[in-house]
Amino acid sequence: MPSKHTQQAIARLADLTPRQIVAELDRYIVGQDEAKKAVAIALRNRWRRQQAPEGIRDEISPNNIILIGPTGVGKTEIARRLARLAGAPFSKVEASKFTEVGYVGRDVESMVRDLVESAIDMVRTERENEVEDLAYERVDERLLDLLLPRPSEATAEGQRGATTSAAAGGAGSGPSLFVVSSGGEVAREGGSPEATKERYNRTRDKLRQLLRDGQLEDREVEVEVTQQGAPMFDMLVPQGAPEGVENFSEMLQDMMPKRRKKRTVKVSEARRILLDQELEKLVDMDDVTSDALERVEKMGIIFLDEIDKIAGERSQMGGPDVSREGVQRDLLPIVEGSNVQTKYGMVKTDHVLFIAAGAFHVSKPSDLIPELQGRFPIRVELKPLTEQDFVRIMTEPENALTKQYAALVSAEGAPLTFTEDAIAELARIATGVNERMENIGARRLHTVMSSLLEDVLYDLPDRGTKPITINGATVRDRLKAIVEDEDLRRYIL
Ligand SMILES: Nc1ncnc2c1ncn2[C@@H]1O[C@H](COP(=O)(O)OP(=O)(O)OP(=O)(O)O)[C@@H](O)[C@H]1O
Ligand SMILES: [Mg+2]
Repeated sequence: MPSKHTQQAIARLADLTPRQIVAELDRYIVGQDEAKKAVAIALRNRWRRQQAPEGIRDEISPNNIILIGPTGVGKTEIARRLARLAGAPFSKVEASKFTEVGYVGRDVESMVRDLVESAIDMVRTERENEVEDLAYERVDERLLDLLLPRPSEATAEGQRGATTSAAAGGAGSGPSLFVVSSGGEVAREGGSPEATKERYNRTRDKLRQLLRDGQLEDREVEVEVTQQGAPMFDMLVPQGAPEGVENFSEMLQDMMPKRRKKRTVKVSEARRILLDQELEKLVDMDDVTSDALERVEKMGIIFLDEIDKIAGERSQMGGPDVSREGVQRDLLPIVEGSNVQTKYGMVKTDHVLFIAAGAFHVSKPSDLIPELQGRFPIRVELKPLTEQDFVRIMTEPENALTKQYAALVSAEGAPLTFTEDAIAELARIATGVNERMENIGARRLHTVMSSLLEDVLYDLPDRGTKPITINGATVRDRLKAIVEDEDLRRYIL
């Protein structure tokens, strides 16, 4: 039974038309219209395929994509934003990793397990947010129990003498004068149980107020913590073990009884520990798991980076080529749709969307084995970014660099603005450096911008809160020396 959230997410997906998807992507990514269009269609096609009658559904092959383009032009960013706006579980993996020594022929399925982990995190966070208020309330009450043990618990143990020692003992574990006096009073006066109770409640209410006002954060209390079993199972897994063995050792770990231990900590830390415990009680992990598995199967997106590195000349015998082709063969069933065993249960990958990316400088998509090519029918090329694109990238997206830096600087109380000619100058410099050195695309803007603003960031907050304006001249002054000096350029920009 899917949760309300999963149902909402799936319903929202039904509402997301390709045009809307592109419009959403436009908020973060400049240009690359064809790539945006292609991913929008792929996402929508997955939904369309799920709607198709069963008979034909299996005949429609998945619409996976290959994004082809040089470094730093937005491939990863497009995939990541797509996943986020779809509310889809997302995981990113470098295909080349599976050709590395020690990985050969092994564990391509781990990408699906990663995806499941990301879905579990996502769903658990959602659930935790729902019960967070309640959890905090419960934590407060438990902290109060620790700060001021209940008289009923104490009297249950025996006579009044015990009450005194329990109350004093509980209070004595920290420098808690407040509790000692009230606890002592309660015990000494004796009186009717009702009176005791009432006095206790009054004290507790006062303490609760102090706790909420943050005045008890440094008091010490004793909490019970659970410790993970020994991590020795990792050592039991031999290098190059067949897939699934790692999983098995994790399962063993989960089965080990957890050791409990008492620790004396400050209230502030106790709150963190107790919050974890309360959230764990309030969130039903079986529910989270089944929900997460469903979300992976219906909405998951796997980003397969560096796919060009596993394409290559069809192999002669031996050498790394065999392993590359081997990885492609291992990928086939997963991309086509198969059942993958994870520690949370079986996952069907039939509707997982795969977005592959690569520069394809040396190899071409046609160098992939034909079966795999067939599973990635949509190919789209991303263009190198122009100077004009850089101007827009620095200013337009909601997370544009100039906005990021302005936010950083305003934390010190100073407004930071860039004039138009400053932006133009920055774009010109970034383009120039990309041309003369390696073209690292929009990533160049990060290095240029951080050199430009180094002084500003260093001088704050000492220089006060007067507004800072960066204009073209500032940019030239600050960066001229670096841009013109080849060695500096190589290291700094
Ligand atoms: N078209 C764009 N619009 C806005 N920002 C962009 C664009 N292209 C790249 N960026 C920014 O540049 C950085 C690098 O982009 P991204 O990670 O998408 O590169 P990539 O194409 O995946 O490169 P690589 O092949 O090296 O992985 C990110 O911070 C991203 O925000
Ligand atoms: Mg990338």
